[in-house]
Order: sequence, then structure tokens, then C-alpha cells
Amino acid sequence: MEKTKWRILIFLFSGISFLAINCKHELPLAISTGTDTGTGTGVIPTQASTCSPDTAYFANTILPLINSSCATTGCHDAISHREGVTLTTYSQIRAMVTPFNSGGSRLYSIITRTSGEDIMPPAGPLASAQIANIKKWIDQGALNNQCNSGCDSSVFTYSGAVSVIMNTYCVGCHNSNSLGGGIDLSNYIAVKAAALGRMMGSINHTSGYSAMPKGGAKLSDCQIAQIQKWIQAGTLNN
Ligand code: HEC
Repeated sequence: MEKTKWRILIFLFSGISFLAINCKHELPLAISTGTDTGTGTGVIPTQASTCSPDTAYFANTILPLINSSCATTGCHDAISHREGVTLTTYSQIRAMVTPFNSGGSRLYSIITRTSGEDIMPPAGPLASAQIANIKKWIDQGALNNQCNSGCDSSVFTYSGAVSVIMNTYCVGCHNSNSLGGGIDLSNYIAVKAAALGRMMGSINHTSGYSAMPKGGAKLSDCQIAQIQKWIQAGTLNN
């Protein structure tokens, strides 16, 4: 009897370790995001007309970051939900935080772990600015908020538009540790190569291309226009 119990425990434990080891950002699936951020909670998204630099906005930065860093297939997407955690909507992410208390929030303690096997995301820690933004969002009440970024399609430089879009929506899945589709979008040379390749088809959700950002809401028409114009103007490092 005792022996059986141990066998079951060992079996369960090895299963969990196996899942943890295999939690790589390889094949993310479509998940619900975007306008669906309040699903199931009755929490109404709050809209601000312009983005204040002092506020962290869930829909603008937190959700895209978590989509590209945590909600990938094999990890915390709707299908895999490792350890029972799914992180694809506001209500699911909200369930892992205590508003106004980042220090007491599970999500924050997980992304700030510095040692042990279960560093999150497994591909490597988030950038310190990203961690700071999540902290700020929690400490400001973890609202389902959104602002109008005032995207201006007449701005289409690499530094002022393209790299900002890449960093917000794409880099979590496309960096040197986590090469979705073998594509890196974390530096100019690599972004240029993708831009001259299949990028426009994928962000326009053209049939025959894999729709990007994977699992997230489509980029706005203005953001797509910025990338398109940057390409037409010669994909400069400007
Ligand atoms: C959640 C992870 C994830 C996010 C976020 C993401 N990608 Fe991808 N991307 C992938 C994966 C995985 C592939 C490989 C093909 C597939 O699985 O669909 C891929 C493939 C691609 C391709 C090749 C598509 C094709 O049809 O050949 C391009 C181009 C691309 N991504 C660009 C982007 C851009 C630009 C963004 C941001 C706007 C982005 N990706 C955001 C995971 C992601």
C-alpha cells in the first residue's frame, strides 16, 4: 500500500517536471485577447483618451507582453495551462495579482524570481522595464484599462515606430532565446530581414501567412501603416 502511494507520487512528480522542462515558447496557438479582455468578470474596460506616461495600461502594454511571454503554447495558453494557470484574458491575469500590492502578488513574485528551475518565462527573465511596468500596473490597482496611444501614421522611423511595435507585440516570442518560426525581431538587422520577407503578410492576416501577433489582437491599421511606410521608405535604421 505504502509502495503504491510512493509510486503515484513519483509518477506525478516526474510528470510535472516533464511539463516544466518542456514549457518552451515554440508553437503558440490562437487565444482570445483584444476586445475580449474583460471576459467573464463583468469588469468593464476603462478607456482613457490619451496615454499618460505615469500610468500602466493593461490593454496597451500588459496584455501584449503577457501574450508574447507567458501565454504561449506549451505554457500558459488556453490549451496547455501549465499548473492550472491560463494567462490569456484580463480575468485570468487579474486572478494572479492583488491590486495595489505588487509585493503580495503571485504574478510579480514569479517574474522576479532570480534562481531555481522555475524562472519565468523559461526563455529568460523579462526586461527590467517590463517588470517595472507590470509592478506599476498592479500598484495602480490592476485595472482593465486602455488608452488611445495617439498612433500617428506619419511617424514611421525604426526607432520611433517600428521598434516600439516589435518590442510591445512581438519580441517576447521572437528573440534569440525563443525564435518563433526561426524569426528574431529583437534587433534592427533581424527586423529588416523579416520586413523584407513575410512580415506584411503575417500582420495583415493575409491568407497563406501565419497571422501575427500570434494569439493576440491584430495590430491597428495605423501601426500596420507605420511598418508598411517604413519598408517602402527603405527599411532604414532611423
Ligand atoms: C505568442 C508568440 C508570438 C507572438 C506574440 C508573435 N509571434 Fe510571430 N511567430 C510565432 C511563431 C510560433 C511562428 C511560427 C509560425 C507559427 O507557428 O505560426 C511565428 C511566425 C512569424 C512569421 C512568419 C510567418 C509566415 O507565415 O511565414 C512572421 C513574419 C512573424 N511571426 C512576425 C511577427 C510579428 C511582426 C509579431 C508582432 C506584431 C509577431 N510575429 C508576434 C510566435 C509569435
